[in-house]
Amino acid sequence: MSIQIPQLPKGTRDFYPEAERIQNYIFDTWRKVAESFAYEEYEGPMFEHLELYTGKSGDEIVSQLYNFVDKGDRAIALRPEMTPTLARLVIQKARELKKPFKWFSMPRLFRYEKAQKGRLREFFQLNMDIIGTESIYAEADLMAAIATMLRKFGLKDGEFAIGVSSRKLLATYLEEIGAPNPALVYPVLDRRLKIGPEAFAKALTDAGLSDEQIQKLDAFMSCKSIEEVKAAVKSENASAALDEIVELFATLQSAGFGECVNLDLSIVRGLAYYTGIVFEVFDKGKSMRAIAGGGRYDSLTEKLGGDRIPGVGFGMGDVVLADLLREHNLLPSPKQSVDFYIASFTNDMKKVFETAQMFRASSSTAENGTNFTVSHPLAPMKMGKQLDQANYQGAKIVVYVDGDKAQAGEFEFKDLRDGTMHVGNADAIVKQLNS
Ligand code: HAM
Repeated sequence: MSIQIPQLPKGTRDFYPEAERIQNYIFDTWRKVAESFAYEEYEGPMFEHLELYTGKSGDEIVSQLYNFVDKGDRAIALRPEMTPTLARLVIQKARELKKPFKWFSMPRLFRYEKAQKGRLREFFQLNMDIIGTESIYAEADLMAAIATMLRKFGLKDGEFAIGVSSRKLLATYLEEIGAPNPALVYPVLDRRLKIGPEAFAKALTDAGLSDEQIQKLDAFMSCKSIEEVKAAVKSENASAALDEIVELFATLQSAGFGECVNLDLSIVRGLAYYTGIVFEVFDKGKSMRAIAGGGRYDSLTEKLGGDRIPGVGFGMGDVVLADLLREHNLLPSPKQSVDFYIASFTNDMKKVFETAQMFRASSSTAENGTNFTVSHPLAPMKMGKQLDQANYQGAKIVVYVDGDKAQAGEFEFKDLRDGTMHVGNADAIVKQLNS
């Protein structure tokens, strides 16, 4: 009987060291930029009670849940997004947490989606959220962070765009044209560009809209400038929602992010909990799925049974981001790199271990906080083999523990980057590394 080789589950990834190196580069950059904007990191469990998601997140995400009943008969779901967990954390400590606060997290998420380009069943998502303020400057802070992050990854302004819309504005417009229950209409509007004009019109007819209302809505969602929107809306609420967007854009403009944002009323977002500004980040030409998406959710904590605490934030997935960076040749080399490889002509393993440890220890006292990576053979082997290994591991300098040209306290060493041979003490070797 043949045994079947185990298979990778659909929509998941293995991270061999080369892939994990790229992953860590993304995580490091996310974390560095989030911290530079003074967001604090938090985490939560990877699974929650199913009821945290049902009904609160929007139908699409609920249909994508990975859920099961555990041995204690509890209905459990793997987290498909972080926002409900964040809301739970906020509700639990609503009194103690000094508001407003800015938090970030980089959760592993699970969605039972059709696996395709840009969409997997298991992925990572940077979440940045601001809790406890209704100020539009919270949106400005988040968008400044997104633009800074994408620039840090090496993308240029114009290669990405944050498209901004407003559920408040849409709601007032729906009211103005007398459309029925916006909660039923949003999911259709969210799919407008994905499903094509005919299916869009049919879905809206099914949601109870007349042909005239559909036409008006379609024209409204195609507005490209504030002026066009101003001409289309009448109510005071609508102009208040519009003023907010104007102030947001002016603020971002003054901080040097004017080129990174634009009005895009075709953005609605699928999740049910958004109440104000909504936004999505796309590559130029929208050739890929969204890099990130988010918005304001001022009543989520209340819907979950807590006090009303406003929030706004976004999620940026690792999958589309990595695809985009790969396309622009912006990912670092996935190859291993090692500072020192400690070699021995006489297979003096004790000396090898002792010297390796000396370099590791010296790095912990180095002033600039460098952390030397030090490797060496794990079994006695010929020098040729040791050098092969050093090259394969991307070593910069090979230190020979028993070269006969070295005096006491010194080593022969070879810089593999230019092939030069040297003799010197540990300080000289470190100096060569940094040359
Ligand atoms: P979302 O639009 O569902 O929002 O996801 C945000 C981003 O996560 C997407 O733009 C995409 O980059 C990534 N993403 C989503 N699903 C997948 C998938 N199946 N595979 C790969 N990447 C994916 C939310 O999740 C909100 N909770 C974001 C948020 C935070 N809103 C406020 N705070």
